[in-house]
Amino acid sequence: MKSVGFVGWRGMVGSVLLNRMIEENDFSKIIPHFFSTSQIGQNGPTINNITFKNLKNAYNLNLLEEMDIIVTCQGGSYTDSIYSKLRKNNWNGYWIDAASTLRMKDDSVIVLDPINLESINQAISHGIKTFVGGNCTVSLMLIALGGLFKENLIEWIYVSTYQAASGAGAKYVIELLKQMGSLYNAVSEDLSNNFYSILEITKKVTKIIQDNNFPLKNFSVPLAGSLIPWIDSDMGTGQSKEEWKGQFETNKILNSKNIIKIDGICVRISSIRCHSQSILMKLSKNVSLKNIEEIIANHNTWVNLIPNNMQETISKLTPSAVTGTLNIPVGRLRKSSIGEKYFSAFTVGDQLLWGAAEPLRRMLNLLTNI
Ligand code: HSE
Repeated sequence: MKSVGFVGWRGMVGSVLLNRMIEENDFSKIIPHFFSTSQIGQNGPTINNITFKNLKNAYNLNLLEEMDIIVTCQGGSYTDSIYSKLRKNNWNGYWIDAASTLRMKDDSVIVLDPINLESINQAISHGIKTFVGGNCTVSLMLIALGGLFKENLIEWIYVSTYQAASGAGAKYVIELLKQMGSLYNAVSEDLSNNFYSILEITKKVTKIIQDNNFPLKNFSVPLAGSLIPWIDSDMGTGQSKEEWKGQFETNKILNSKNIIKIDGICVRISSIRCHSQSILMKLSKNVSLKNIEEIIANHNTWVNLIPNNMQETISKLTPSAVTGTLNIPVGRLRKSSIGEKYFSAFTVGDQLLWGAAEPLRRMLNLLTNI
């Protein structure tokens, strides 16, 4: 059995990963070692009633080098500080990473096995040792539209994202909830009064949102009662980095010979978990809606076609319906009035599962089965 070191297992993606591994009995296939950057020597997680004691130092290269596989959800700065040192020391183990740091490297593979299992297997047989989870919106979009990509039907995509607070990390979720609480507290009395004045309520709430005491430490601007149409850093081209990743990562995952153009605007909204995406795509040829539906629905186990009617859309195609599941519903599918080859679609996925932890878990399984 392979020794697998886990770093960053306590954070949001890391804890979802551990939960999924417990659910799937993955720990029976490995010898796990838990590392920490801040709580060395303390107790680690409890798995199947066994508490892993004495957390190892995640900065100790000698200890890390004893691992056959390292799985990190610790974030980009940890990867920056450790990965190249390990490789320089000729550590030849497998590195599985949730952070984006290594995604652009030629000798890394972005993993999403329902889409690129063949590339992953080829990479393993060619001795590639670095496997990185993709950007959440990219992975979720690819699973949603995997069939269309496989059939080479997509000429370009324009996407508007609606990304949950948890995509930014745990402390952002906490801040969003505090913002929501502040809004509620400001008007709770008015809400219990049957003779409320809606203008008075909106005035009070707006005043709170714009007040300097509104919890803004992490987002820096209000999210509750608002939205933020920018995610990640500024590429200096008018695109945010999150928007830039759409085309780069999709084409890297697909190993495209001809680049599929992807652009859009990425927006943070106040959902807690689950990213949604509104898609306009141009197909490379004329295909009927029925055909498109079949191609999408038959591609993988997780994609789930939602008929384009109001009731099923509002009950099945939302973050609240999808959260905590591996389902990837795709709906609002129709031929656009813009032209014959243009289709709209809307998709939702849990960005902590298929958008982050699940591709890593499955990659680990591929390696432990070698
Ligand atoms: N960059 C994403 C977000 C996280 O901010 O929502 C998922 O990769």
